[in-house]
Amino acid sequence: KKIGVIFGGRSVEHEVSVITGIQVIENIDKNKYDVVPIYVSKSGDWYTGEELSDIKNYKDINNLLSKAKKAFLSPVPSVKALIVLPEKKGFFKKDVEYIPIDVIFPAFHGAHGEDGTMQGLFELCDIPYVGSGVTGSAVGMDKIIMKDIFKSNNLPIVNYIWFTRDEYEKNKEDIIKKIEVQIGYPAFVKPANLGSSIGIGKAKDKDGLLNAIEVAAKYDRRIIVEKSVENCIEINCSVIGFDNDFISSVCEQPISLEEFLSFDDKYMRGSGSKGMKSTVRKIPAPIPEETSQSIKNLSIDAFRVLDCSGVARIDFLVEKDSMKVYVNEINTIPGSISFYLWEACGIKFSTLIDKLIEIAIK
Ligand code: DAL
Ligand code: MG
Repeated sequence: KKIGVIFGGRSVEHEVSVITGIQVIENIDKNKYDVVPIYVSKSGDWYTGEELSDIKNYKDINNLLSKAKKAFLSPVPSVKALIVLPEKKGFFKKDVEYIPIDVIFPAFHGAHGEDGTMQGLFELCDIPYVGSGVTGSAVGMDKIIMKDIFKSNNLPIVNYIWFTRDEYEKNKEDIIKKIEVQIGYPAFVKPANLGSSIGIGKAKDKDGLLNAIEVAAKYDRRIIVEKSVENCIEINCSVIGFDNDFISSVCEQPISLEEFLSFDDKYMRGSGSKGMKSTVRKIPAPIPEETSQSIKNLSIDAFRVLDCSGVARIDFLVEKDSMKVYVNEINTIPGSISFYLWEACGIKFSTLIDKLIEIAIK
């Protein structure tokens, strides 16, 4: 079977997605599958070619792609431009190159890839794809609708309220008052739709709040304000499955957020078999068995109520004193496909990929 592994993309998580994509390519069982790497550049153009399977080439990706654009006119065994976006808005003529693909493995993170948009394209093309469908992907990316659904299914979440930029402009004082009464300080202010902590601020007082809302409003039309859980640890757990058949992984405690600085930080760190965040996590998480069991169950609930499929990672906040657990968010295409959580359960990365492809073609 030909597996199209597609990664990169237009989101702010482009680099992380390249790592995830290359990890999938490196770990897929080559005896069973032919890999077609498909790289989506930051501007949204699509490319394919063997060179795109090697993380080292991303050091000089622009050079590689500039050659690829020429290769589109007279193909050479090198990187080829599959789709180059038109300069003007509009549609393509139909005489584009046909690349046969049996199953697509999306390894995107964030907007235009993890959010249901690509999944919609694959549906239209009638190509089976790994991971959640349009609904689960779209809902999982929208912090407001995700929380509304968690709430209506009685999953434990922190208090939140949301409003649009326009509502805020018109009723600033009312909205601030409502936040102070219903949420209080400290509070997290987030754009509804961005990943990677972009546009997120923590407000300790009214000035901080006004400021954080202004920042968040630059990134999104809709803004969510959540109560901050003080003195907490983060715990993550992954789920694999579909429909009514799910399993959850062990829990991990990520120790600190990754900050990507240099190229090596961005790309090279994840190219080995260890995974991009291997040095900053405790697996299994050092929490009581009871808490871990409840997190595993909640992970499956979260996965199920959003109608997810394939694999996802659900992130929790746990209050240190009370061990009270809150579902924070879901990642419908988790970084490194969460393989390290499954390895800790005795499932090899290649077996995980197999399972995901199996689910995709069910
Ligand atoms: N969005 C990143 C990659 C993650 O949370 O896994
Ligand atoms: Mg995330």
